Amino acid sequence: MNRILIADDQADVLEALRILLKGEAYQTDAVTSLGAVLNSLEKRSYALLMMDLNYTRDTTSGQEGLEIIPRIQAIDETLPIVVMTAWATVDLAVEAMKLGARDFVTKPWDNDRLLAIVRTQIALGNALRKTQQLEAKNELLRARMPNIISESSQMRPVMELIARVAPSDANILITGENGTGKGLVAQAVHSLSPRASKLMITVNMGGLSEGVFESELFGHVKGAFTDAKTDRAGRFELADESTLFLDEISNLPLSQQAKLLRVIETGEFERVGSSRTLHANVRIISATNANLHDEVAAGRFRQDLLFRLNTIEIALPPLRERREDIAPLAVHFLRQHAERYRKNLSGFEPAAHEALMRHQWPGNVRELDHVIERAVLMSQGNQIKANDLGLTTASDGTPRLEEMSLEEVEAFLIKKALARHDGNARKAAESLGLSRSAFYRRLQHYGL
Ligand SMILES: Nc1ncnc2c1ncn2[C@@H]1O[C@H](COP(=O)(O)OP(=O)(O)OP(=O)(O)O)[C@@H](O)[C@H]1O
Ligand SMILES: [Mg+2]
Repeated sequence: MNRILIADDQADVLEALRILLKGEAYQTDAVTSLGAVLNSLEKRSYALLMMDLNYTRDTTSGQEGLEIIPRIQAIDETLPIVVMTAWATVDLAVEAMKLGARDFVTKPWDNDRLLAIVRTQIALGNALRKTQQLEAKNELLRARMPNIISESSQMRPVMELIARVAPSDANILITGENGTGKGLVAQAVHSLSPRASKLMITVNMGGLSEGVFESELFGHVKGAFTDAKTDRAGRFELADESTLFLDEISNLPLSQQAKLLRVIETGEFERVGSSRTLHANVRIISATNANLHDEVAAGRFRQDLLFRLNTIEIALPPLRERREDIAPLAVHFLRQHAERYRKNLSGFEPAAHEALMRHQWPGNVRELDHVIERAVLMSQGNQIKANDLGLTTASDGTPRLEEMSLEEVEAFLIKKALARHDGNARKAAESLGLSRSAFYRRLQHYGL
């Protein structure tokens, strides 16, 4: 947008400005009264308003011009306003800027300086508009998915994708490490879809043993196998007109993958032990922490099935790659657990906050949830202390090198070497490049 509204009651000023700005490829609309300024702003949006402050030839106070600034802002709060004054009264310009004008030009103006101001203010104004639009959009997305905490820039495209694809019937594959929120996202997609009035049906493929997949998914008839005492509907039937969430999809045995492919392609299936073909209109969301492309390469997952499942892929980043989410998530879980355990906790001590930020979170959001739950139970004050969190060491039990003293590092390496060589001191010393006596001296020193 590069249209500029110019307002001045002197025709020659307007003409000079119009020519100058046109030479820089700006479009201009010119008006000669403050009332016309408001009218024009109601009609269309502008990249910039350049406005003289004095309108009746014999007034010099500029009051009229000042008074209109708040009214302009009520119409378009992001519009940059540059005021002009013929009187070089800097006071007046300062007054205008206090009210919200972004810059001022004194008449007669210097062309280069005026153009520099125009360029800068238009660029700033456009940037401001863009951020405000983005923020409004984020607000909207967050409001639609209130239980998904997402403050980080890494989660923004994820939230946008969820909102965009949820209303369609497209099959969705959600990928991400354990505890990144795949189940939560599946539920959000369903809730934002036209199928939301029905319950989402979930099957955890990881919890099924080889023999029961088929009857679980497609149902069975009485007598189909020893335990089949009655007819039973499978999850596909239950999910008719709704969403079926196939969690941990990589666990589906190859033998069942062809059957799943068929339902997806045709909507048709049979209960185990029956030859009657049934139909179901099901939207499928699946989730996995495995890399299905690797599984395909290894021959454990059918490529054609993968292509049917991942029409849209939502990849959830691990928590360590969206650190801005750690604090808001921690606060969220603190509130939850404090309420549940009836504890009066107002927040985290600074050291506790630092410990949360330092941790690598291999178990992602679920780990954070559990750590906070335990801390809430442990805590005795009204703030969580670093100690309550039990996060003194890095995730794999190895202390962080950069937090250790030289002696601690040495003792740590010696212990490791001994463990690696089953307590054989000679081999441990050798592996560290130490003579046996030097090694023993250190053992003694560290009380090992
Ligand atoms: N962005 C988030 N905001 C709020 N809570 C979250 C968020 N992400 C995850 N959680 C919570 O963390 C826990 C773990 O999430 P979820 O079960 O969805 O993860 P997952 O990826 O399905 O894990 P797994 O692979 O182990 O099944 C749940 O209690 C969930 O509600
Ligand atoms: Mg899950």
